[in-house]
Amino acid sequence: MDSRLIGNDKWYIAMATKLYIQQYEIGPINNFVYLLGDPQTKEMVIIDPAWDIDFLSQEAKRLGYKITGAFLSHAHPDHLNGLHKLVSLYHVPVYISKYELPIMRPAIKGLIDVKDKDKLSIGQISVDVLHTPGHSPGCQCFLVKNQLFTGDVLFIDGCGRCDLPGSDPKAMYNSLYNILMKLPDETIIYPGHHYGPIPSDTMGHQKKTNPYLCCHNMKEFLVERMGL
Ligand SMILES: [Fe+2]
Repeated sequence: MDSRLIGNDKWYIAMATKLYIQQYEIGPINNFVYLLGDPQTKEMVIIDPAWDIDFLSQEAKRLGYKITGAFLSHAHPDHLNGLHKLVSLYHVPVYISKYELPIMRPAIKGLIDVKDKDKLSIGQISVDVLHTPGHSPGCQCFLVKNQLFTGDVLFIDGCGRCDLPGSDPKAMYNSLYNILMKLPDETIIYPGHHYGPIPSDTMGHQKKTNPYLCCHNMKEFLVERMGL
């Protein structure tokens, strides 16, 4: 399994929020998995536990953190195919959107439903949940101050597919233009796949380079995304 750390440790220490961020590219379709830690309490959460839980577990140990939970950006298999192994190792709560398709919900103990504007925590650090459907009904982003973990909603210079079961391109337009693009331009985007030229970027820069964020209205977006 090819698992690699993008950047280096220092680069991902976000001093302003005291949130420790590790970004890993793992698996055959360039998934990004994140370990987010509170340096004060040494608690750590994993966003989208997939592909190589042994490696991620070793990483948490190497960094001196204890894994205390998992956040699911949505329930597509490439984002949670390590979930059973994770909960068998750690017995931690797993947070999923209450709107995810029933057929996609993983059959595990400790699954906790969350919804828009709920607050989660990583140690003593507060995390806001943003419900951002479109790619799937239960897509959600996680916001820690100005750092936004976008799953398959927003990529660097791309956005999630809207032609899958449960997808809704009009809902995607609303999520992008009326929720995510309303965040400050300084917001840093951490996507769910490494599909762009760089692993993360600011919202302000993405508004200039991401073709899915440069549409003048929903009709233009539907043409760009769906070819309609
Ligand atoms: Fe997905």
